[in-house]
Amino acid sequence: MKKILIEGGAPLFGEVQISGAKNSVLPLIAATLLTDGTSIIDDCPWLSDVDTMCRVLAHLGARPNFDHNVLSIDTSELNQIDPPAELMRQMRASFLVMGPILARLGKVRLALPGGCAIGARPIDLHLKGFEALGATVTMGHGYVEAQAKRLYGSRIYLDFPSVGATENLIMAASLAEGHTIIDNAAHEPEIIDLANMLNAMGAKIKGAGTNTIRIEGVEALQAARHTVIPDRIEAASFLAMAAATGGELILHNVISEHLQPLTAKLMEIGVSMEIGYDSIHILGNKDIDPVDIKTLPYPGFPTDAQAQFMALLSVARGSSIITETVFENRFMHATELMKMGADIRIEGNSAIVNGVSRLSGASVRATDLRGGAAMVIAGQMAQGITEITDIHHIERGYENLIRKLEKIGTRIKLVEE
Ligand code: EPZ
Repeated sequence: MKKILIEGGAPLFGEVQISGAKNSVLPLIAATLLTDGTSIIDDCPWLSDVDTMCRVLAHLGARPNFDHNVLSIDTSELNQIDPPAELMRQMRASFLVMGPILARLGKVRLALPGGCAIGARPIDLHLKGFEALGATVTMGHGYVEAQAKRLYGSRIYLDFPSVGATENLIMAASLAEGHTIIDNAAHEPEIIDLANMLNAMGAKIKGAGTNTIRIEGVEALQAARHTVIPDRIEAASFLAMAAATGGELILHNVISEHLQPLTAKLMEIGVSMEIGYDSIHILGNKDIDPVDIKTLPYPGFPTDAQAQFMALLSVARGSSIITETVFENRFMHATELMKMGADIRIEGNSAIVNGVSRLSGASVRATDLRGGAAMVIAGQMAQGITEITDIHHIERGYENLIRKLEKIGTRIKLVEE
């Protein structure tokens, strides 16, 4: 079992290269199934989630090859419609292959993706959308199956602006006959990135990044080459680290408008930043002012940065209220922070965080991907040594994290027992 040891107290100093976005590259990999050539994804981060998604595609008959952050995927020989259940259960995002396989092969059978630590994470919006496009969807024995000789364009309203449902339906509709309109679509930058790659493949998608996305189906899509957008959540995590340790960092490879909800909150907290076109220079200071945070779909404050900011606010000069509106169970990291001396009270979907003067190192666990990032931040500012277990969660979404942290001065050690 691997664990991380962090000795707190070192203010961070230096430069960080932000990697390609996990939550963009996963749908982009799924989208390559819509073509029968070799697509190339540049600036692809090497993450365990990327490895899992590549294994799913390899099982379907695709041939992925990763070399120095360039991922090429030959999808000319697709011959399976049902990836193995154990792979599907490892990562919810593997469900994003459903739309492409259905559109490309007319039939798909997937093990239902389990929920995960942060919530039940149903797929009803995905399935309702596929039915609206003319598919017959059946469920049983832990599997979901969809088939359609041909998909037909339709008007689909999403009860919730689900990122995954928006992505799955854009991909399916790209090869449907006729026009599809998705209302109340997700706005996240990763949706725009997916639409940009699909349009480079010959799709006809308009309105990505707005409430209403219009897709005119085409007969076939061609392989394309595309560069992943930078990971706004990795950037948010490093910004929170600089603020938490009173350090000074320069983040390279960011799209600053994707970080607006975060930089706005950090300014309220009392952190100063120089925001460049593709970099951010942040100067933390020891005095952290309390702020209230409410997570919302983009362009609101991202739920994926909630845990990291809870760690930061646990040492603010006063009380903050954090309200989580996107997932029903995304406060597990609070219990771990309390082991380090944080004063947090959970009331429904809100957490009241009463700032304490300092956290103290303890043995804690990464409860999920972003909860793990929160533990790293807490360890960086705590007195003494923090031991973090279950770090496989962290490896899912942060490329070369240990190396990046050592480079900016974190006293960190990876221990393999
Ligand atoms: C994506 O998950 C991200 N994952 C998540 O990041 C992120 O937290 C989430 O979007 C919200 O921004 C990837 O992109 C791979 P949703 P996704 O569908 O698509 C409900 C991380 O840490 N819902 O927008 O699964 C659902 O239960 C991960 O990087 C339905 O009710 O998120 C949740 O409450 C965690 N029915 C809400 O919508 C559905 O059919 C948001 O889910 C689908 C979703």
